[in-house]
Amino acid sequence: MTVRRRALLAGLGAAGVAGAVACTPARPDSAPSPVAPGAGPPVAKVRAVTAAARATTLLVAYDLDADADPAVVLRDVHERLDDAPAIVSVGASLFDRHPGLARPRLLTAMPAFPADVLDERWCHGDVLVQTSGPGPVVSTGLRERWRMPGFHPPAPDGSVRNLFGFREGTGNPDVTDAPLIDSLLPVRRGDDEPAWCVGGSYQVVRLIQLATAIWDGETVAEQERVFGRRKETDAPLGAPDAGYATDPEGRLTALDAHIRRANPHTRESEAHRILRRSWSYRHPDAGEGQIFTCFQRDLEKGFVTVQRRLAGEALERYTLTFGGGYYFTLPDPSGDPSDFRGRTLVTRA
Ligand code: HEM
Repeated sequence: MTVRRRALLAGLGAAGVAGAVACTPARPDSAPSPVAPGAGPPVAKVRAVTAAARATTLLVAYDLDADADPAVVLRDVHERLDDAPAIVSVGASLFDRHPGLARPRLLTAMPAFPADVLDERWCHGDVLVQTSGPGPVVSTGLRERWRMPGFHPPAPDGSVRNLFGFREGTGNPDVTDAPLIDSLLPVRRGDDEPAWCVGGSYQVVRLIQLATAIWDGETVAEQERVFGRRKETDAPLGAPDAGYATDPEGRLTALDAHIRRANPHTRESEAHRILRRSWSYRHPDAGEGQIFTCFQRDLEKGFVTVQRRLAGEALERYTLTFGGGYYFTLPDPSGDPSDFRGRTLVTRA
């Protein structure tokens, strides 16, 4: 373990390594195949996912009480949220507790990837509710498991930047490109998933502590090398298009630069694109860092493939993932007033 990562671990404070659990290791690499277009018509059913990212966020993960009925709880959560733009997702443990419910095919508990030091107190949950604040949803039958508020630090140019001072979101797929978003985000009819999943999406949350003091001691040139982008302007250091074909040795964009690993821009990597939504956090028990979230139609082809490519990247020395989880975001309900998020999951058609 490097000095930098040891410093991060020491900084985790009350949420730190005492409670850290080395979870099941991530599955070894396998050759991914591109996402098939899907047989059904396009669906873009979680409007809060593709809406413009809000300046603040609040993620609250809950577990259901042993005697709680998921149908009652999900209806109650929906009613309490009223019309607020919210993302409501379910975790693998809900399906462990209620084996009669049809589990999304790829939904497991998030494993620990090689550089992670996961703390169970900051991981998983039966239900995850994400709003733009101010308070959590309180529902009978739910116990809070973890909660993390996030924000975008003010930047003089009004851009969204992380606590390392770099702009966020540039490489995201264009949310106004409906065919592209429909091919990458929502589960579609014809996908090998339970019928209720159509229109929903796999959501990944990673709570990542950042070693800002160490980062701030680096030169801007080194910071730019780590990301592969200019700090001020956000311009890529090299030419990402065509698989960095003009820079095979990494003279312009280092081979271990974050953006080069995250998206190698090959024809094959197009199928592995994800929609990222990140916020910064400062928390008395978890230092400061990044709430990374992303959405995709296929967890393996999306986040898991990208995360495996990031293993050993230059950014790893300054980050420590200690929490988060895998979830499945419930499709928006129909306009019918009696409908609620998750109705098709908990009631038989
Ligand atoms: C603390 C951790 C992280 C930080 C500070 C960070 C920061 C950044 C920044 C500054 C960019 C360039 C601007 C942009 O396209 O948004 C970027 C790009 C990207 N990041 Fe991260 N990121 C982090 C973690 C992750 C993780 C965990 C993943 C996925 C497993 C990821 C996937 C990507 C992707 C796919 C791109 C776009 C690359 C491109 O298309 O050029 N990042 N990230």
